[in-house]
Amino acid sequence: MKRFGFLLLFNIIAFVLIAIPPSIAQSDKMLLDSSGGRGKKRPPVNFPHNHHVEKGLACKDCHHLYQKGENVLDESKLIEGNKEIQCSACHGPKSRFNLVTAYHSQCIGCHKKPVKDQKRIPPRYCGGCHVRK
Ligand code: HEC
Ligand code: HEC
Ligand code: HEC
Ligand code: HEC
Repeated sequence: MKRFGFLLLFNIIAFVLIAIPPSIAQSDKMLLDSSGGRGKKRPPVNFPHNHHVEKGLACKDCHHLYQKGENVLDESKLIEGNKEIQCSACHGPKSRFNLVTAYHSQCIGCHKKPVKDQKRIPPRYCGGCHVRK
């Protein structure tokens, strides 16, 4: 079942890649903005989501649902529009890791570690992620 789900997802992605002109396919880049409309100090982050998946990272390297310290997330919940999987659903102002801390520790934490077959060093410094236009 799990394998089928993966194949289905794979087919959907393949279909989307083939069927949609490149200009739209680029919407893979997610614009991350933690400010909720309030004043921002840095430009929002253009996050190349699928580039990460193509590099061989697992969904659960980034998405999680912890129970007794274990990541028990059901990957079939990882569908667009599901608000429960958004970081902000759990990392609110009262969480031990607020939203910005959650992003910074996950993104920068991993970028500081070498990943298998890595050719380029991912951005670690402010301007590498908060790119000014
Ligand atoms: C390198 C980290 C990383 C990896 C690997 C990753 N994701 Fe994500 N994903 C994110 C982040 C960050 C967001 C933005 C979350 C938010 O908006 O709060 C996101 C958003 C999403 C969304 C959109 C949610 C929405 O807002 O509608 C989906 C769907 C998704 N991921 C599925 C997947 C699947 C399926 C995989 C594995 C094939 C995967 N992700 C792998 C980090 C990752
Ligand atoms: C369903 C709720 C939930 C969602 C959604 C969620 N987190 Fe978490 N996250 C937690 C909990 C609970 C912890 C453990 C916090 C603690 O120890 O107090 C945690 C811990 C973390 C940590 C600390 C290191 C670790 O992995 O244990 C980071 C970094 C983090 N989350 C980033 C993110 C990012 C980025 C996203 C979005 C891609 C995200 N989280 C989505 C609940 C969530
Ligand atoms: C689990 C590891 C991991 C996490 C978490 C992660 N990244 Fe990355 N990131 C990588 C790797 C690996 C690369 C690719 C290096 C390469 O291209 O060879 C990369 C590349 C990038 C790039 C450069 C892409 C390019 O075109 O050169 C950006 C921008 C980026 N990440 C942003 C983010 C942001 C923002 C987050 C948090 C939301 C994040 N990453 C979380 C591992 C990670
Ligand atoms: C690996 C990527 C990455 C790096 C490197 C990084 N950030 Fe961020 N940062 C993020 C993400 C993702 C968010 C959440 C999205 C947003 O609001 O821009 C964020 C949010 C922020 C915010 C809160 C939102 C705002 O604009 O007020 C500030 C401030 C910030 N970062 C400052 C910094 C500074 C200063 C540095 C360098 C010391 C830095 N960041 C380095 C990814 C990164």
